[in-house]
Amino acid sequence: MNEHDSERMLALLEECGYQETVRWEEADVILVNTCTVREKPEQKAYSILGRFQQLKEQNPDVIIGITGCVAQQRGAELLARMPTLDFVLGPGKIHTLPEILRDVQQGIRGICSVGFENGYPTDLTIPSSQRLRAYVTIMQGCDNFCSYCIVPSVRGRERSRPSNEVLAEIDALVQRGTKEVMLLGQNVNSYAKHNPGELTFHQLLAKIDAIPGLERIRFTTSHPKDLTEELIEAFGRLEHLCEHFHLPFQAGSNAVLEKMNRGYTREKYLTQIRRLREVTPQISITADVMVGFPGEGDDDFTQTLELVQEVEFDGLFSFKYSPRKGTRAAQWRDDCTLEVKQRRLAILQELQREITLRKNKRLEGTVKEVLVEGRSRNSPHRMMGRTRCNRIVNIPGGSEILGELVTVKIDEGLQNSLRGERCR
Ligand code: 5AD
Ligand code: SF4
Repeated sequence: MNEHDSERMLALLEECGYQETVRWEEADVILVNTCTVREKPEQKAYSILGRFQQLKEQNPDVIIGITGCVAQQRGAELLARMPTLDFVLGPGKIHTLPEILRDVQQGIRGICSVGFENGYPTDLTIPSSQRLRAYVTIMQGCDNFCSYCIVPSVRGRERSRPSNEVLAEIDALVQRGTKEVMLLGQNVNSYAKHNPGELTFHQLLAKIDAIPGLERIRFTTSHPKDLTEELIEAFGRLEHLCEHFHLPFQAGSNAVLEKMNRGYTREKYLTQIRRLREVTPQISITADVMVGFPGEGDDDFTQTLELVQEVEFDGLFSFKYSPRKGTRAAQWRDDCTLEVKQRRLAILQELQREITLRKNKRLEGTVKEVLVEGRSRNSPHRMMGRTRCNRIVNIPGGSEILGELVTVKIDEGLQNSLRGERCR
């Protein structure tokens, strides 16, 4: 979602006549788009902004703004804290960026544009670097209040975009060459919960699946509490829905899950995974998990490890818990020391590394459909693409196959990617 916000801002800047540069020394405008979901990315944003202080001293005309969820959460306090900043812009006010830049150019400083407007903001500026794969927001905000999570207070309550708007946008994207869409929302499973008469999420997927020319559909992110049988069955039915499900579980112990206010048990989660694999045996499953939540003992952590062993995720995003101001969990003692958190994270990540490599090796000799997205990072003579299960594959070739769906025989499974050859 954060990446998509960056794209939207880039598109607005292009409309105002700016061009993207890779050298920040030559920029006229610098936006630091931030995330506040954990402590680490927030600190990283401050340190990046600190570096720009010097730049501003050399070139007082450069405009520097902070955007994203740190901007939304801290608001005007950031202007006092960082005198280099020209403005603060929250994710609910991205559309005001051109206006803000005009004001700053006219000498108005210290602008703070945060908060949310009623309804769904119309944000549909399509970036000029029109893309093979595009993000499409279908809902924003979250009503869940997991006890550790800052999202509901920085992204606001759940609101869904009307399905006709979503479908029209995807239609327009496909006409400009988009082959894959990633539907975005904090909890896409509860799409249109507050819009009576609207399509449900699986019904929306079916409509998107029927858009001619669209090859692939993905979505993120899902909550096990709201996962329906109809959605699970959609994987078996819809031709363009890719076989990849990101389903965060956060913790393997029921006691911790309850304190997190997640609304499901480990048993329910495991049943959902089983069911997903019954319907779609080749489905790839990834998740988010945390270690060191307040009160997490060794036994609780062992249950997380056991769950990871049992499910054998295709990929796992694991984090050390950090208290976020204003959340319920931040009132509880952060009783796992940094050392304990680091040790648990290292054990968990090592286990997952083994699983990922094992699963990638199992794919050697199989044949996969790959959407070619760009040049390979490691070799100028190779291109990189993704399987429907979202695995990165490097294959020989050049820009003539960019944007193509090709059939690839997998030769080698590595830790973070696969290597293959095109089948003729
Ligand atoms: N501390 C650590 N990790 C967190 N996440 C959300 N809040 C916190 C927090 N306070 C993780 C969750 C979520 C992912 C986006 O970030 O695993 O799914
Ligand atoms: Fe945060 Fe929970 Fe909402 Fe996800 S579902 S955004 S973890 S409150």
